[in-house]
Amino acid sequence: MRMVDLIAKKRDGHALSKTEIDWMITAYVDKQIPDYQMSAFLMAVYFQGMADDEMANFAGAMLNSGEVLDLSAIPGIKIDKHSTGGVGDKISLILAPVMAAMGVNIPMISGRGLGFTGGTLDKLEAIPGFNVNLTTEQFIKQVTEHHEAIISASSEVAPADRRLYALRDVTGTVESIPLIAGSIMSKKISSGINALVLDVKVGNGAFMKTQEDAEKLAHALVTIGKAHGVQTRAILSDMNQPLGLTIGNALEVAETVALLNGRGPQDVRELTVTLAAHMAVMAGKTDSLEVGAQLAGDVLRDGRAKRAFRQMVADQGGDVNVIDSPQLLPKAQYRISAVAPRGGFVQAIDSEALGKAAMQLGAGRAQADDKLDVAVGLVLHKKVGTPVSAGDVLATVHSNTADPAAVVAAVVDAFTIGAEEPAKLQLIKEIIE
Ligand code: URA
Repeated sequence: MRMVDLIAKKRDGHALSKTEIDWMITAYVDKQIPDYQMSAFLMAVYFQGMADDEMANFAGAMLNSGEVLDLSAIPGIKIDKHSTGGVGDKISLILAPVMAAMGVNIPMISGRGLGFTGGTLDKLEAIPGFNVNLTTEQFIKQVTEHHEAIISASSEVAPADRRLYALRDVTGTVESIPLIAGSIMSKKISSGINALVLDVKVGNGAFMKTQEDAEKLAHALVTIGKAHGVQTRAILSDMNQPLGLTIGNALEVAETVALLNGRGPQDVRELTVTLAAHMAVMAGKTDSLEVGAQLAGDVLRDGRAKRAFRQMVADQGGDVNVIDSPQLLPKAQYRISAVAPRGGFVQAIDSEALGKAAMQLGAGRAQADDKLDVAVGLVLHKKVGTPVSAGDVLATVHSNTADPAAVVAAVVDAFTIGAEEPAKLQLIKEIIE
């Protein structure tokens, strides 16, 4: 086979066969195909797209380029959740203990944040001592005994995706639905799960800015999952404002603890319970979403989810004292108020701008090797639809620099305040199976 022929075939809008895709990915990983040819292929996919089975084969080839975990030693359904990335998204931290408390196995392999969205691993590492680098044996043992573990992917997972993603990043080919879907699913399926719920974010703080694009991505992800025998569902959820009231690693852990204590913001609770209800049905705990939601509500209310979180933190070497006393979490030195310049209603919040403001404080990474400051971030006091008066505090900036004037100005600018009360944002937009 010759790469030039496969590039031309894709350029002309034809689907590649499984044999061709397997050959191409293997040869690329073996460095027999140069980056300039792979770049041309990626650009052809960007313009021509991929057929459903072609996309599934592409994900499969990337998945088989590396290590695939065997979780068969863990009895029953093994289910994970993946979010396409949002600002203030701490759902995994709450959802994993909720599912564990319901007796569902949740072996979670998570990522670090890059750009304006934070990563689950970074948030967990705000808990002193928390270790996300378990061996496969430790991971399997912990999930078998306590139903949950959250760890980092090994560097052996889907090496083809790692190389292709770096190439896409510098060739203007990241924003392609089959390439994004193949990339996400190759990594997820390699973790050995047999069920997966996807939280596909849509809005100004998400990768997918429109519902139409989010639906296309959700369909692509579900198609690939099913083709690989993984029961998959996608939930489209709103990201036109940050989730909850906190953005920043330790601040989001504190909000997690509040939720596990039966308090915390309603939107975080609603999304957690919705995802948990679908996972309960997929794991066979019930065949009714209402009952699933009730079970999730019960474990949040009666302290079982909090106990499961404590167990996971203890299992992974973290300081459990922060659960009873979140004030022990790392704290920033300065708190600066970002105040409303005029009165009215909060009509919109630019979540991406707030994500970037938090990143500038040090809560996120612009480059993969940037070092984080887990203490810094933002606490919102107003969300979309809230009435405000001039001088009200919109958000508190938690900073380790004394006068982060540019960040404070960016936070104020992220809020659109006007006279008209805006329409209510709908958090759960659509379920795609
Ligand atoms: N996340 C991924 O893992 N891959 C993409 O291509 C985009 C987002």
